[in-house]
Amino acid sequence: MDFSFTEEQLMIRDVARRIAQEKIAPSAEHYDKSGEFPLDNIKLLGENGLMGIEVPAEYGGAGMDPVAYVLAMMEIAEGDCAHSTIMSVNNSLFCNGILKFGTEAQKQLYVRAIAEGKAIGAFALTEPQSGSDATAMRCKATRQADGTFVINGKKSWITSGPVAKYIILFAMSDQSKGARGITAFMIDTDKPGFHRGKTEPKLGIRASATCEIEFQDYVATADEVVGAEGEGFKIAMGVLDAGRIGIASQAVGLAKAAYKAAVNYVKERKSFGQPIGSFQMIQAKIADMKCRLDAAELLTLRAGWAKAQADKSGGRFSTEAAVAKLTASEAAMFITHQALQIHGGMGYSKEMPLERYFRDAKITEIYEGTSEIQRLVIARNETGLR
Ligand code: CAA
Ligand code: FAD
Repeated sequence: MDFSFTEEQLMIRDVARRIAQEKIAPSAEHYDKSGEFPLDNIKLLGENGLMGIEVPAEYGGAGMDPVAYVLAMMEIAEGDCAHSTIMSVNNSLFCNGILKFGTEAQKQLYVRAIAEGKAIGAFALTEPQSGSDATAMRCKATRQADGTFVINGKKSWITSGPVAKYIILFAMSDQSKGARGITAFMIDTDKPGFHRGKTEPKLGIRASATCEIEFQDYVATADEVVGAEGEGFKIAMGVLDAGRIGIASQAVGLAKAAYKAAVNYVKERKSFGQPIGSFQMIQAKIADMKCRLDAAELLTLRAGWAKAQADKSGGRFSTEAAVAKLTASEAAMFITHQALQIHGGMGYSKEMPLERYFRDAKITEIYEGTSEIQRLVIARNETGLR
């Protein structure tokens, strides 16, 4: 196997690394404490091609491949997890969806501003009563005689909802058809009938703004339907396959930050007259962290590679994406936990970033499909059983 990267992939990784280390990491504590949306940093990511990495240049993106996206996401998440959440929704869930399923007019209209980071995109599937069981949605799109749709209902936990200009929305257009009755729509948040709820107070990724949104007689034209009517659930699932690679990359980047801090600390901190890294119990922790980190990184790169093959020749990469997300998110939880423990009392202090890493890691096991849902997807795909 060839594990080397192309010049382009290395270039975007280095751009992301520089911004992450020079701008994002130094401001992460501020944004975590204040919960403000990091608008200036996000604009900077956009100016450097990082908000639309796989978007072709003709639509304002960097025109790179999924492996480049994985590498860049890892770097940004190593700088700060919350920034990488905003980046991941823009790239994987918004741009990918419109590029793959949208019309030429939709690509021209909606992708450029989002890929350039001049506007923010969001993805709205979850509702108060339907998260994992996504087809149990109640948000309704009713077709009118003139071909427009009237949308009514609520979506919850929408990342970037408080700031998004455009949202890809999934709504039930024919209840009798279940999953095949769901349609995707492009929502312009400046149009009448769109409302935002309060921003959610969260354990971690506090700079990534999340809120409930509500539609009251919102009118979507036929031109704002994404893909075919009734194809919305397949679009959501296809987009989430790509999204899960983004979250796996995020988990790897975050785990790397915690791991590097731990390796430095065990060499500096002395106890019983020696560096704590010379104790076998601490060495075992370092070894276990390293194994899980490398496994997560390799599986995430494999998933990026599998998506690149599927982009060229069709086919699915659901299993590779779910394996990467499951492994990397559980590795991030394990590694941030162990890294905090290695720092003793200082790990628990807000004067060091370890407690933030630990809080941020938890979300990677929940959003874009919980760990239980990743296991369900993998096992269903492997056995063919339901
Ligand atoms: N690609 C394309 N089509 C797919 C697919 C995929 N990956 N997965 C399923 N489908 C198709 C199926 O083939 C099926 O099609 P047919 O009707 O033609 O047979 C249809 O979709 C329904 O599939 P299932 O019967 O498997 O559906 P299900 O109700 O059993 O649900 C599930 C499957 C995997 C549990 C799914 O509901 C799921 O992934 N749930 C988790 C939801 C989720 O991840 N939400 C994330 C929200 S976004 C977010 O979280 C963003 C963020 O934080 C930043
Ligand atoms: P539930 O589905 O109610 O699950 C509760 C528990 O039951 C979980 O442990 C789950 O794994 C388990 N469970 C459920 N079904 C099964 C099963 N079949 N087998 C085994 N266990 C099961 N959604 C969006 O659409 N867009 C976004 O931008 C977005 N951003 C988010 C940001 C944050 C910070 C958070 C917290 C959530 C976000 N979500 C978003 C929603 C997220 O995808 C859901 O929270 C997630 O899919 C789980 O759904 P739920 O919270 O309803 O939990």
